Amino acid sequence: MAYIQSMPKSETIKLREKYVGAACQLFFRSSPLKIVRGVAQFMYDEMGERYLDCINNVAHVGHCHPHVVEAGRNQMSLISTNNRYLHDELVILAERLVQTMPEQLSVCFFVNSGSEANDLALRLARIHTKNMDVITLDHAYHGHLTSMIDVSPYKLNLPGGPDKPEWVHVAPVPDVYRGKYISPRDSDSEEELGKMYADEVGKICDEVKQKGEGVCAFIAESLQSCGGQIIPPKGYLERVYEHVRAAKGVCIADEVQVGFGRVGTHMWAFETQGVVPDIVTMGKPMGNGHPVAAVVTTPEIARSFTETGVEYFNTYGGNPVSCAIANAVLDVIEEERLMERAARVGSHLLKRCETLKKHAIVGDVRGLGLFVGVELVKDRSKRTPATNEAKFVVERMREEKILISRDGPDNNVLKFKPPMVFGVQDADRVVDTLDRVLAELDTQTVVMKKHVTPISDGVESSDMKLKKKLNKQIKAM
Ligand SMILES: Cc1ncc(COP(=O)(O)O)c(C=O)c1O
Repeated sequence: MAYIQSMPKSETIKLREKYVGAACQLFFRSSPLKIVRGVAQFMYDEMGERYLDCINNVAHVGHCHPHVVEAGRNQMSLISTNNRYLHDELVILAERLVQTMPEQLSVCFFVNSGSEANDLALRLARIHTKNMDVITLDHAYHGHLTSMIDVSPYKLNLPGGPDKPEWVHVAPVPDVYRGKYISPRDSDSEEELGKMYADEVGKICDEVKQKGEGVCAFIAESLQSCGGQIIPPKGYLERVYEHVRAAKGVCIADEVQVGFGRVGTHMWAFETQGVVPDIVTMGKPMGNGHPVAAVVTTPEIARSFTETGVEYFNTYGGNPVSCAIANAVLDVIEEERLMERAARVGSHLLKRCETLKKHAIVGDVRGLGLFVGVELVKDRSKRTPATNEAKFVVERMREEKILISRDGPDNNVLKFKPPMVFGVQDADRVVDTLDRVLAELDTQTVVMKKHVTPISDGVESSDMKLKKKLNKQIKAM
């Protein structure tokens, strides 16, 4: 059934261009999508065309899950007010979140977005340690607030990005495929690579100590998403946390993208590294599309904040509607056993993606649960990023009604982080389609290598037409 909205798409584009800041960029800029509704792992445009959503980790339990929608609607019709009043939804949510955490992490603060959660985490770290210096990972993104841009090399590294403040120190991303230390050049052992990367953080800690100061915080995603779907090597975070704590700093785990069971084996991605952070931040999936986020920390850190005598107030943070929605999201994760599903479907997706290595352009395939990355390279031995080719693949997949995106410092990593209701059939459809699209690129590579000239009688084969079309498309990127 076509779902036609009253305003034509061209009019929506016109109004957006006129009234919305151009820095707010659209996906598929040359031909943006107008999405008008969503169901489970699917989104629909204004013409009723259905797209398989492989990137929306916000719609964690599926777009517009009826239980979540109902919870929001009910609570909205009763009351939405601030957290200075007692409300059961807030305390129940706090208790449920704490029950998913290691014992030491038992105090919650509620906010409205991942950026706010990380900003509050940094504020807590400053108050508790009384130190200033923060260690972040290269290519990391922690939010759009000024305080978070300061610790987000993802933005700082851009040509027009702001200058990195002196108190921010950037450690290399523990990327064992294309990072500073790679396998097998630097070591075959994952543990050894983990140690090498962790000791880079140790070096920064030593430099800070040499200034006669202590570290304030180490902030990192437990699996780096913006850096290109990075799975840190074994033992990495454990050793990093030792270095940071020895320098009197606290460890912040940003679970905004990767939390709430996405990794399949655990509720929180930091658990896959066997560590216990001092502060955990969460957001995106928490409200399944509704803005709600949180910080969970230790009683000692929370007490340091209380002792300042400065009240923490946030008009919308922890309002009953947000809390009712977040509780409903937790209900669905439990009732539909979505963590188990992420483990099962994720491992199927990963195995199937491995088969794509038959295409020379696929350099690396990595993932945990429903967090998967496929890295495209022009040359496997040099691991040269295939940026334009990745762009081509994303656009072609859109033509096939499958939405994926790309990331990493060179934008050459195809990323998959679908709603957790994603199924085995969806995974098969994605990989089968990718296989076809990558085969188109293989043909194109052969053409470029052989410098094929047009067929002499002037009649082009359909193969030749396809090759020409692809060459043109890639050149235009
Ligand atoms: C890892 C990470 N942390 C924090 C944020 C900021 O969250 P929000 O956009 O909800 O402010 C993002 C957003 O993309 C993120 O990816």
